[in-house]
Amino acid sequence: MESVRVPLGERSYDILIGSGTLKDIGRHLKGTAFWRDSSARTAIVSNPTVYKLYGDTVYESMAEAGFEPVKVIVPDGEEYKTLLWAEHILGKLLSAKLDRSSFIVALGGGVIGDMAGFAASTYMRGIRFVQAPTTLLAQVDSSVGGKTGVNHPLGKNMIGAFWQPSLVWIDTATLGTLPKKEFIAGMAEVIKYGIIRDSEFFEFIGKNKKDILNLNSKALTRIIKRSCEIKAEVVSKDERESGLRAILNCGHTVGHAIETVTGYTRYLHGEAVAIGMHMEAHFADMPQKEVARIKRLIESYGLSTGLPKDIDEGALMAAMEIDKKALRGELRFVLPETIGSVKVLPVKKDRVLKALKRGG
Ligand SMILES: NC(=O)c1ccc[n+]([C@@H]2O[C@H](COP(=O)([O-])OP(=O)(O)OC[C@H]3O[C@@H](n4cnc5c(N)ncnc54)[C@H](O)[C@@H]3O)[C@@H](O)[C@H]2O)c1
Repeated sequence: MESVRVPLGERSYDILIGSGTLKDIGRHLKGTAFWRDSSARTAIVSNPTVYKLYGDTVYESMAEAGFEPVKVIVPDGEEYKTLLWAEHILGKLLSAKLDRSSFIVALGGGVIGDMAGFAASTYMRGIRFVQAPTTLLAQVDSSVGGKTGVNHPLGKNMIGAFWQPSLVWIDTATLGTLPKKEFIAGMAEVIKYGIIRDSEFFEFIGKNKKDILNLNSKALTRIIKRSCEIKAEVVSKDERESGLRAILNCGHTVGHAIETVTGYTRYLHGEAVAIGMHMEAHFADMPQKEVARIKRLIESYGLSTGLPKDIDEGALMAAMEIDKKALRGELRFVLPETIGSVKVLPVKKDRVLKALKRGG
């Protein structure tokens, strides 16, 4: 297995990446000093889609290792990432008598990871949890870094806590059952890491497209590991997003605005970020040749880079003005100086509007 350390002092943890490894999770936990003294009562939080595919494997692995897992199932979908369903999880943990030395395994995509992590952060004032991410987005992004939470009718991810997992257990073989569209959307975040931090990685993603799309396990391990290394490095320098961590939002200012304006139904998050990364590259002072390379790589994975004609630029601007990175009425973006290096910079509104009107 490959491993990446997230160095965060006493909250440090490992990301372990392998193929076909879900069946070994129980043995690993039991064999590691950190977990050996945990209460036998543990919980596996998942949704029906993922549990049906991988739940029994994880359950049996945990049970064989001597844990007594309780299964907690939440319906599949972003609309269930709510306080109500977090309370449902907490209720199941209480009924199953998990104690302060128990832990939760979050088995699923980002929705499950965010919500189970949030439940772990509040159960008896905080218990440990393991991320076992099963989507590409969750494996390269949401399972690492400790942002947990749920949505509120007034805003996405508005209720939450920074609560780091104690282990991230990535089985790349789970990507074999992930719908292609979800996989491709996750690739937008992988490309993002190349743009913000590593031009060689950016090239690797382009050159190895065939292997990546064929889910070759060596290629998958390489892209997931490098993405996790970059996220770990950034998070360890700025755990609570007071500075550097903002660079992870490359493409996300426009991306979030697109999701807001289209009511979160038309685009998957990664699809909106892909358009955002290309649009935002136009606001940057980087050579057109480099902007074109970004566009080419994104499109080579079947992602769009242009704004559809029916999206109103004024509405996008309004959505961006309430973005967390907007400061004193000025729009701020994570802009590439060159591929592999970005800066958070203000951009004049008329320049943004002009690029949006051009549509990319
Ligand atoms: N915490 C963070 O730092 C962070 C970062 C980015 C995104 N997020 C959050 O992540 C969420 C999106 O996560 P996501 O894209 O993983 O979506 P998701 O969790 O909804 O999963 C997408 C779909 O794939 C299914 N699925 C998952 N794994 C599968 C597998 N191996 N085989 C078949 N089907 C599978 C799920 O059941 C679901 O229907 C959002 O709520 C977003 O806010 C959090």
